[in-house]
Amino acid sequence: MKFNRRSFLAGAGVIGAGAFTSYYADWTAADAAAERQPLRMPPLIDARKEGNAVALRVQAGTTEFFPGRASASLGYSGSYLGPSIRVYQGDDVEIAVTNTLNEDTTVHWHGLLIPAELDGGPHRIITAGNVWRPVLPIRQPAATLFYHSHVHGRTGVQVYSGLAGLLLVTDEAERALALPSEYGVDDLPVVIQDRQFEDGLMVVPQGMMTMMQGRRGNTILSNGTPNATARVPNRLVRLRLVNGSNARIYDLSFSDNRTFHWIASEGGLLDRPISVSSLTLAPGERAEVLVDFSNGQAVSLKTAPDTNMPMMMGPLAKARNFAKEILGGQGETVLQFDPVGGHGAPSKIPERVVERPRADPSKANTRRRFVLNMGMGGMGMGGMMGGGTDSGGGMVINGRPFDMNRIDEKVRLGDTEIWEVSGEMMFHPFHIHGVQFEVLSRNGGKPILRDAGTRDTVVIREPVELLVHFNQPAEIAPFMYHCHILEHEDNGMMGQFRTI
Ligand code: C2O
Ligand code: CU
Ligand code: CU
Repeated sequence: MKFNRRSFLAGAGVIGAGAFTSYYADWTAADAAAERQPLRMPPLIDARKEGNAVALRVQAGTTEFFPGRASASLGYSGSYLGPSIRVYQGDDVEIAVTNTLNEDTTVHWHGLLIPAELDGGPHRIITAGNVWRPVLPIRQPAATLFYHSHVHGRTGVQVYSGLAGLLLVTDEAERALALPSEYGVDDLPVVIQDRQFEDGLMVVPQGMMTMMQGRRGNTILSNGTPNATARVPNRLVRLRLVNGSNARIYDLSFSDNRTFHWIASEGGLLDRPISVSSLTLAPGERAEVLVDFSNGQAVSLKTAPDTNMPMMMGPLAKARNFAKEILGGQGETVLQFDPVGGHGAPSKIPERVVERPRADPSKANTRRRFVLNMGMGGMGMGGMMGGGTDSGGGMVINGRPFDMNRIDEKVRLGDTEIWEVSGEMMFHPFHIHGVQFEVLSRNGGKPILRDAGTRDTVVIREPVELLVHFNQPAEIAPFMYHCHILEHEDNGMMGQFRTI
């Protein structure tokens, strides 16, 4: 089959030429502006060097994502994103957060296993001009975690504008492995985000369709850099890939299809490295990988087209992706790598990473079921368009929109439970605060590759069974569970539980 642009556009008329051409224009605009920029590196704060007392300022400012074009943005102690904070297992770290915005915010430590009153969820508001000083007990294995705004109803906007940063937990077991660990040199954080740019300026998309599918964008940023290039040594390099997007799922692979080695999921190091040639990462998910650059060749990290749309928008997404493929792209470039120093010595991948105790499914004493609904069930378009429930667009869990004053579940502290979670209409990244879990099954069968390791976020649509161990108290404040498509969360696809 052969297509040319005209016959393709004629076909696109069927699904609405207006919407299609604007997608098309977005894509070509972003592509044409492809002037390479060096990958920005968030500053590193080593908590121990600061006596385990770190300060963050939540601030508004401007960022030149494209040279000479200053976009309004938000950041932590900077204009966009925040510093990477390295913390050590066993330490107690004070992080003093000063809110200099003129609106409320919160800072949630995503993936940190701490009591709920320290967790920074929607209940722990820092009002304008105020300071919050939690002392965080670091009692978990090495892992790549992140912190971000979680103020209810505004999480999507605040994160999209820049309120996210990384928390890197390290421990002795990890250091003993001698993995690449020189921050910014052979140990690179890569926060992947799609953002909408118009005329070189970042805009925050609005509107009901945007709320349904979650805020996306025409430009992929790595650490806030469009068209980013990283100079890397010609050896084994660790990438800490973090999906900091509001809604987009990435399917990542290298332009030469090289194999790379997945060594850590959200909960930390895997038992052993898993060799892969592609990896999916949904909002909230993190993965550490080792990539061998010893052949000295430039290569880029790419993503397959974005296809996770609610059912009714599926045709539009397909048309757009189809257009990209025909008109020259095979997915989009996330980040280019330029190895320095030519051909180097091939590197060795460790065979084992760590030994971790496994939760025992026979210990599970309770089973709970959660369905992430999009308000279309039985109601058709009318239900969605008219806001079939009292939440925006009918984003609910088990039929109920989030209510700050309602505790949805009560769990006994120390218990292990099975949570069975499924979702409607599209893929949803399901996240639980204050726990790590393992995936026991997917769609009635074995878990798939992407489910590996201990996690705090997992992609669902078909039912998954999660084995969850609850060892953090939530008496004073509750913990959240929610869809990590931030617009779904803001519009009600969230619940809360106590552990007592
Ligand atoms: Cu990363 Cu409740 O969120
Ligand atoms: Cu979280
Ligand atoms: Cu969702």
